[in-house]
Amino acid sequence: MQIKLNILILLDFHPVSMFQKQDLLAKEISRLKNEGNEIGFVATMGALHRGHLTLAERALEENDAVVVSIFVNPTQFNNTGDLVNYPRTLEEDTQLLNTLPGNIIIYAPEPKDLYGDTVASTHYNFGGIENQMEGKYREGHFDGVGTVLNLLFRAIAPHRAYFGEKDFQQLQVVRKLVDIENLPIEIVGCAIAREPNGLAMSSRNKRLTPLQFEEAAIINETLKIVQQHFNQWSIPKLQKYVEERFSENKHITLEYFEIANIETLQPALRKRKGNTYRAFIAAFAGDVRLIDNMALNS
Ligand code: PAJ
Repeated sequence: MQIKLNILILLDFHPVSMFQKQDLLAKEISRLKNEGNEIGFVATMGALHRGHLTLAERALEENDAVVVSIFVNPTQFNNTGDLVNYPRTLEEDTQLLNTLPGNIIIYAPEPKDLYGDTVASTHYNFGGIENQMEGKYREGHFDGVGTVLNLLFRAIAPHRAYFGEKDFQQLQVVRKLVDIENLPIEIVGCAIAREPNGLAMSSRNKRLTPLQFEEAAIINETLKIVQQHFNQWSIPKLQKYVEERFSENKHITLEYFEIANIETLQPALRKRKGNTYRAFIAAFAGDVRLIDNMALNS
C-alpha cells in the first residue's frame, strides 16, 4: 500500500475532478490561482482520442493545472443530424484523462450553464479567414466556435490555451478571437497526432471501415508529396497532380485541396517570396468527412 502511494506521488497523479457548473469551477480556479498556480486549457467536444491527449499532456508540462472542457457545442453545427449523432462518451473520456499524470479538471457543462437561456452565436469578423475553406463548406461554423470559446475563455481565464494544428483554420481564428476580445491568453498550436498509416487522428476515424481507414492514408501521403515538390512545381501543377491522384481512388473523394497563405488563408495562385504556405485537404470516405493539412515552407 505504502509503495503504491509513493508511485502515485512520484507521478504527481491527482484523480481528475469534474465540474458541471461554472460558479463551482470558477471557485476552484480562483483557489488554484491564489496559490500561485498557472492554468492551462484544452477545449474539446469529447469523444477523446490520442490527439486530444497530446494537447492535455503538453498543457500539463507547461502549467500547474489543466482544465479540459468537454462540450458538444450546438452553435458550431450547421447540420442538426451531425449534432445529434456526435458521440458523447463522458465516462470513457474521464477514464482516459485519469491516465495522465498531473492535475486535470474537467468542465462538462450543460448548454444552459455556458450560454444561459439563449443558445445562439455572436457574429464575428475574423478578417476574412472565417470565409475560406471550412467556412465555405460549413456556414456559420466559426461564429459558433468563436462564441463558445469566448464563453469558455471567460469562465476559465487560463494563462495558456492549446489547440491542434489538425484544425489549422480554427487555430488562426482563435488567435484573432483573443485579439478581438482582448483576452490575455497565450494560444499554443500543437502538432497533428497521426495514426501509424499517417491518417490524422480524429473522433470520426472510428466510423471508417477497415478498408476506408487504409485508403484514407492517401490524404497524408498526398500532402507529403506536395510538400516535397513545393519548391519545384507551380501551384497549378500541384493542384492538377492532387486532383488526378484522388480521381484514381474509388474510396476517398476530394472535397477541396488548397494551398493557402497561413495569415490570410486565401488560396494562393502563385508563390510569393516571404510568404508562408500550408496545404489543406478535405475529403470524404463514404459519408465521413476528413480534414488534414501540412506546412510547405517556413
Ligand atoms: P474537437 O474536435 O474535440 O477538438 C479539440 C481539440 O483537439 C482541437 O484543438 C483540435 O484541433 C485538437 N485535435 C483533434 N484531433 C487532433 C489531432 N489528431 N492532433 C492534434 N490535435 C487534434 O475543435 C473542437 O473540438 C471544437 O471546435 C472546440 C475548439 C472544442 C470548440 O467547440
